[in-house]
Formats: sequence, C-alpha cells, structure tokens
Amino acid sequence: MKLRHLGIIMDGNGRWAEARGLERFEGHKEGFNALLRLIDRAIEREIECLSVFAFSIENWKRPEDERRKLFSLFESAIEKERTNLKDKGIRVVFSGSRENLEKSFVAKMSSLESYTASGKNLTIQVLFNYSGSDEITRLIRRAVGKGIKSPTFDDLLANRDNPELPMPDMIVRSAGEKRLSGFLLLQSGYTELAFYDRLFPDWNAEMIDNIIIEYSKRKRKFGGLI
Ligand code: IPE
Ligand code: IPE
Ligand code: MG
Repeated sequence: MKLRHLGIIMDGNGRWAEARGLERFEGHKEGFNALLRLIDRAIEREIECLSVFAFSIENWKRPEDERRKLFSLFESAIEKERTNLKDKGIRVVFSGSRENLEKSFVAKMSSLESYTASGKNLTIQVLFNYSGSDEITRLIRRAVGKGIKSPTFDDLLANRDNPELPMPDMIVRSAGEKRLSGFLLLQSGYTELAFYDRLFPDWNAEMIDNIIIEYSKRKRKFGGLI
C-alpha cells in the first residue's frame, strides 16, 4: 500500500536549542529549516500529503515570549516561502481553530491557502491552533449546524477542515516521545506509527526515505486477514 499521507509530529526543537545553550526559539527556527528539507524529498518520493503539527491548542500553556516568537516565525515563513511553495506545486492548507487567532494572522493563512490552491505536487496540511479533542468538538458542532441531528463517523469526517484528504497512512514523531498528543485523533485509528529519537531540527531528507522503508515493512490489516 502506497504511503500517500504522512503525518509528522515535529518535536524536540526546544531540547535541540537547550543542548547548545541557545534560546528555545533558535530550535524552532532550525525545526522549520528541517521541514523544508523534508518537503523537497517528499515531493521526489511522490508522497501526496504531509500533515505537520505546528502549534497545538495546549501549546498556549507555554510562556508568552516563546509563543510570540513562534507566531512571528510562522508569519514571516508564510511571507518568505509563499512563492517558493507555489513554484514547487505545493498546496498549503491549515487545520485547527481560527477563532482565537488575530484577524490579520488568519488573513495571512487564508491568503496562502488561496495563493497555493492550484498546487498539484504535494499538499501540506499545517495543524495550527489544533487539538484532537477540539477538532472532534468542532466537527460535531459543524455537522449538527447543518441539520444532521445524530452525526455518524462519516459525517464527522466529511466536515473536517480539509475533508478531501485521505486518512494518514503513517504518523511519525521525533525526539523520542511515544505519544500522539492528540494529533489527528479522529483519523489515526488504523494509522501506522513510528517514533524516532532524533530531535526534529536534526532531521534531514534521508528521514523521508527511512520512513518509507519502515512503512513498506508494515502489514496493514484493518481488522481483516491477509
Ligand atoms: C516542538 O518542539 C515544536 C512545538 C511544540 C511548537 P518543542 O518546543 O516541543 O521541543 P521540546 O519538546 O521542548 O524539546
Ligand atoms: C506536540 O508537541 C505539539 C507540536 C509538535 C506542535 P508537544 O511538545 O507540545 O507535546 P507534549 O506536550 O510533549 O505532549
Ligand atoms: Mg515538545
């Protein structure tokens, strides 16, 4: 079965920086550079969709200074990478709550989505201001708001922020933590999982190849027999 949709929980930025006596924010910057390296290889390997966990609702618990710097990194990345992304045929979409984000920030997210909408080579779903439990709540409300009194699982999936995306085939996490932290909670019931000790800023393009090899060893049974 082809690896169409890969989820990445980008973790360990803070530890990467702290190990070098740097501010945590420097780790986030390097983490972003690592993501750019992975994207190019993902296109070469014909992965259709990358979902990346960029900021969780729980991350609001972090000190204001770190949050502020992270948000300004996202903003400048959106500006700086815009043309690059489009030129590479990448479509960027976001998933997560936009309710408590600044209007100007949301406008930049939407503008990147429409600017890259025609990208055919790779879809990057950025999970921003996202949590699995918040997503489930939002989807139930959305379905009910459309008059569906008793939504089924398929109704919830159809009401996702990006309902056209397939379920994630594989979710990987860096930095040794073996948990999902709510990442794609509703969609990950039969997703293959792999955990790597390497901190995210140290990830290079070869990690995509390692992940594809690991995925090719898995037998996906979905409850049946093969
Ligand atoms: C992941 O790195 C990036 C975000 C959560 C935004 P961390 O910042 O969680 O890094 P560690 O886990 O503290 O090393
Ligand atoms: C998950 O990482 C969120 C992102 C990668 C954006 P965290 O570092 O916030 O997760 P926990 O707190 O260790 O579970
Ligand atoms: Mg972390």
